Order: sequence, then structure tokens, then C-alpha cells
Amino acid sequence: MAEFRLPKNSRISKGNHHPAPEGAKNVKTFRVYRWDPDSGENPRVDSYDIDLDDCGPMVLDAVIKIKNEIDPTLTFRRSCREGICGSCAFNIDGTNTLACTKGIDEISGDVKIYPLPHMPVVKDLVPDLTHFYAQYASIRPWLRTQSPAPPDKERLQSPEDRKHIDGLYECILCACCSTACPSYWWSGERYLGPAILLQAYRWLVDSRDEATGERLDDLEDPFRLYRCHTIMNCTKTCPKGLNPAKAIAEIKKMMLARRGL
Ligand code: SF4
Ligand code: SF4
Ligand code: FES
Repeated sequence: MAEFRLPKNSRISKGNHHPAPEGAKNVKTFRVYRWDPDSGENPRVDSYDIDLDDCGPMVLDAVIKIKNEIDPTLTFRRSCREGICGSCAFNIDGTNTLACTKGIDEISGDVKIYPLPHMPVVKDLVPDLTHFYAQYASIRPWLRTQSPAPPDKERLQSPEDRKHIDGLYECILCACCSTACPSYWWSGERYLGPAILLQAYRWLVDSRDEATGERLDDLEDPFRLYRCHTIMNCTKTCPKGLNPAKAIAEIKKMMLARRGL
């Protein structure tokens, strides 16, 4: 699955090698995709030999060490360092996952780090998520109501109703699933993809939301929903253990139910 979108008309050039410091005994090589659009050069894969005795345990620790101590030009996103913000999603060792929750010791051999597959690259490990977030905005991801809010309390929900959003509200929009989905690779301009559809389902099953019919109308389209072919890459790769494929199947069931099927 280590496929990613190369800038137009380019091929990968031979990269630079950064050897480990003298005396290092526990060395692992990190092979990292590099591309700077301002350089006019082809992308390359640089290798960095890291002394694991002087590095934190997670892939993100190594990437931060590379930036801080070896090569400050390396560009990537990260924030929380604990699997909550979703910004450090890369393709690591052929799988889309979060660098901050992926242990270096889970990977045998060299650690290969690429941007999320099939997305335009802004620089190095940073994909352009503009379209992904526009798709997120298109589902209007907030509580939509017509009835007036109770004057003296919040809109309440029973514990049973609250349970319906378990397995959905935990999504951190890291885009690992959508960028692992072949249907999203080929039809991402119009197909919403697993991350956004899981989010759409999160609002469809929220008992407080009053726009269910409108939300389903918006998804009733040959591309926005129905490009999912149940390939399951999304569920397999989700670093939060969520099941976007199931959420998509549930939306399709809701579509059938309202047609009385
Ligand atoms: S469903 Fe999982 S993989 Fe997809 S965006 Fe949400 S957290 Fe990331
Ligand atoms: S199950 Fe659907 S959304 Fe998930 S990877 Fe397959 S086609 Fe994409
Ligand atoms: S840095 Fe926030 S999820 Fe990895």
C-alpha cells in the first residue's frame, strides 16, 4: 500500500545518507520521502541512521530527532504526541498510521516513511488536505435542529442514545482510512470516502439531531456514498480501531429503510 502521488512528471532521485554518530551501537535506518516544490528537483528518499539508545520509542520521536538534530529542513505535521490530534498521519512501513502511536520496535528492518498515499504533497511528509476538509464541511458536521433549545438546560440524550455515537465520536480525522481506500484514490473528487462518511453517520445517529432526512438526501448520490465497494482497507488501517466500513454500511441501510425496503 506504499503508493503515493508523485508530483507531475517526476521520478524519485537518489537521496542523501546521514550516518549514525560515531560509537552508536543500536542503529536503525529511517528512509524518509523528501520533496521541496521550490527546489525544482525530483523527490528523493533520504536515509538517516538513528541511535535508538538516544531516541524515544515512537516513530514520531525519531522524526522529531531527525528534524531537531540532523536536518531542520524536514517538514511534517504533528501536535499532541498522543494519538488525539490526527496530524502526524504518515504511510509508515507500508501502512497509514499515526507516527506518535507507532512503536519503532514494531517495525523490522528499515523504517520507511512516506506521506499519506494518493494525496497531493505540499512538502516532504505534508499532504494537502484542503479537499478532504472541504468534504468534511460539506456534511455540515454539527448538531442541526429546528425545535427551540430548552431554556434552562442543554439538549439532553439518554445513556442508551448516547451509546449510538460510541465508535464514531472518537474519530480524529487523521485521513488514514480515506487515503487507504482505493475508491477514494480513483473517485476522491466526488466520493466522500470513509472518514467523512463515518462522520456523516455520527450525526445521522445522534438522537438530538433533527436533520436526518436532509442529511440522507445529501448523501443520495451515485458518487458521494455509493462508491464504497466494501474493500475494508479503511477499517484495517484506522489507528483508533474504528470501523468506517460498518458506518458506511449502516448509512446504506438507513437509505433502504426510508424507501421501505
Ligand atoms: S475513521 Fe480512523 S482512520 Fe479514519 S479519519 Fe477517523 S480516526 Fe482516522
Ligand atoms: S470499505 Fe468502502 S470506504 Fe472502506 S476502503 Fe473499502 S471502499 Fe473504501
Ligand atoms: S501528534 Fe497528534 S496524533 Fe500524532
